Amino acid sequence: MPRGLFITLEGLDGSGKTTQIKKLAAWMLKRGLRPVVTRQPGGTASGDRIRALLLDTGSTPVAPMTELALMFADRAQAIAEVIEPALAEGKIVLCDRFTDSTEAYQGGGRQLGSEVVLELHRLVCGALKPDLTLLLLPSLKLSLDRARRRNDRHLAQNGANEARFEQEEEAFFRRVWQKYREIAKREPERVILIEGNLAIDEVHEQIVEAVSERVVIVSPRA
Ligand code: TYD
Repeated sequence: MPRGLFITLEGLDGSGKTTQIKKLAAWMLKRGLRPVVTRQPGGTASGDRIRALLLDTGSTPVAPMTELALMFADRAQAIAEVIEPALAEGKIVLCDRFTDSTEAYQGGGRQLGSEVVLELHRLVCGALKPDLTLLLLPSLKLSLDRARRRNDRHLAQNGANEARFEQEEEAFFRRVWQKYREIAKREPERVILIEGNLAIDEVHEQIVEAVSERVVIVSPRA
């Protein structure tokens, strides 16, 4: 059985990733592809508990190195439980965030640097790399505005629950944004950079174009 395809979506909080992953999954389903959709942190029973610890501002403080280790603990479980088995069965895996998020947020945002993240990736994830990464990177200003609105909504709905990153300063997001650009520049073959303040459908079109080059469509129906 040929190995499946590992596709990740990346971007800042408020970049529209979640909307796009849903649209892409729907596009695939229409064409007879049955992607496994997952996210990080989370996506497994233990991963969801790690996620709660990581994102809940009400829980005990988490040092940057702890945060980094927990992101990889979550990832190790997701690889063992979800990602590897699906790829081994020849499936497409669509993953909302992966190691590029850790490099951007912990490496860039928290200023731990890329090296420690890439080294941990090598130890924990071995040779596993996405075949394709769709990086949504609208302007920093647009992303920040959206993340702030989302944070306000979050606070109104759930208190500070899951808002740890949304509450960061602008300088933090600037570093995350810059690190993402650095990754895209370093790995242009893998990372498709979708820039600019585009409409939802325009972003979807660019995503479909990049994905179409890499997947075999079983039963085209549109
Ligand atoms: P989530 O609610 O899933 O945000 P989004 O919908 O924007 O993806 O929260 C995930 C948060 O965790 C997000 O702010 C980015 C952060 N994160 C890291 O800092 N490092 C990582 O390795 C990952 C996977 C996520």
